[in-house]
Amino acid sequence: MKQEDYVTEIKKLKKERNAIILAHYYQTSDIQEIADFVGDSLALSQKAADNEADVILFAGVKFMAETAKILSPQKKVLLPDIEAGCSLADSCDPKEFKKFIEKYPDHTVITYINTSVEIKALSNIICTSLNAKKIIESLPKGEKIIFAPDINLGNYVSLRTGREMVIWDGACHVHEDISLEEILNIKEKEPSAKIIAHPECNASIRMIADFIGSTTALLKYIETDKNMIYIVATEPGVIYQMKKTRPKKKFIAAPSLHFSHSECNFMKMITIKKIYDCLKKEKPEIIIDENLVNKAVKPIIRMLELSN
Ligand code: 13P
Ligand code: SF4
Repeated sequence: MKQEDYVTEIKKLKKERNAIILAHYYQTSDIQEIADFVGDSLALSQKAADNEADVILFAGVKFMAETAKILSPQKKVLLPDIEAGCSLADSCDPKEFKKFIEKYPDHTVITYINTSVEIKALSNIICTSLNAKKIIESLPKGEKIIFAPDINLGNYVSLRTGREMVIWDGACHVHEDISLEEILNIKEKEPSAKIIAHPECNASIRMIADFIGSTTALLKYIETDKNMIYIVATEPGVIYQMKKTRPKKKFIAAPSLHFSHSECNFMKMITIKKIYDCLKKEKPEIIIDENLVNKAVKPIIRMLELSN
């Protein structure tokens, strides 16, 4: 089948199954176009908790589809490639994490949404990069906090809030590998370019950034800011929406140090063909043990309540 035939068939299947497609900003442009909703991790979880569909097809990675299933356990949640994981989520092993939090018994456990269901079940509150500061500030001053798994986001919010935290040493391979040297090279050729970065980037990138924020925050920033050129230090899928909202501006993807590009290989495992196959066969489906769902849902609901 040709690309346009897949698109037509997906639209038909969506109607037949009463399905919606939720896509993250790091998906390819064709997938962002076919999605019913495109957003960051927070907006996607809010949408997953509140929609009329019977089936949610998640164009994103596994922890996102799992969050959708936890929030809507009565719905069928599909992930077109079950291997679409996340290096950051993988950097926090549940057995090791359990031992870690046992060392700090009087601490509130805040975990970033990029985690497995098991880690969520061990947490008190979930956060995303958009609401991490707000969630930490909602806790009384002096409250002892464990933050996991991203050391970069953890250090960033600790600095922004002035709160000391015990931080797990995990990271995302895509953001960690964004090259400071290459950014500086681009800046030499394009001196008026502003550097905008995701908080998952390491400290050296965050230090030179003109603006730091979640994917949604970066999108809002380039919409209102007066500059015309930006070096975008995050997964370049987000540039598709940036170009759509501000077509006259120039966006340069920050290059990677070791990889040929700064794309997330997990996000890019989802394709239009896989979406079609998945909707047709209604699998791979996300199935999570009920007991685990009941534990993991509580910290996610706390996050949603604190984000409103
Ligand atoms: P956002 O919540 O900012 O969309 O980030 C998700 C993610 O996986 C970043 O790598
Ligand atoms: Fe995970 Fe990094 Fe990919 Fe985001 S970009 S999904 S944190 S591996």
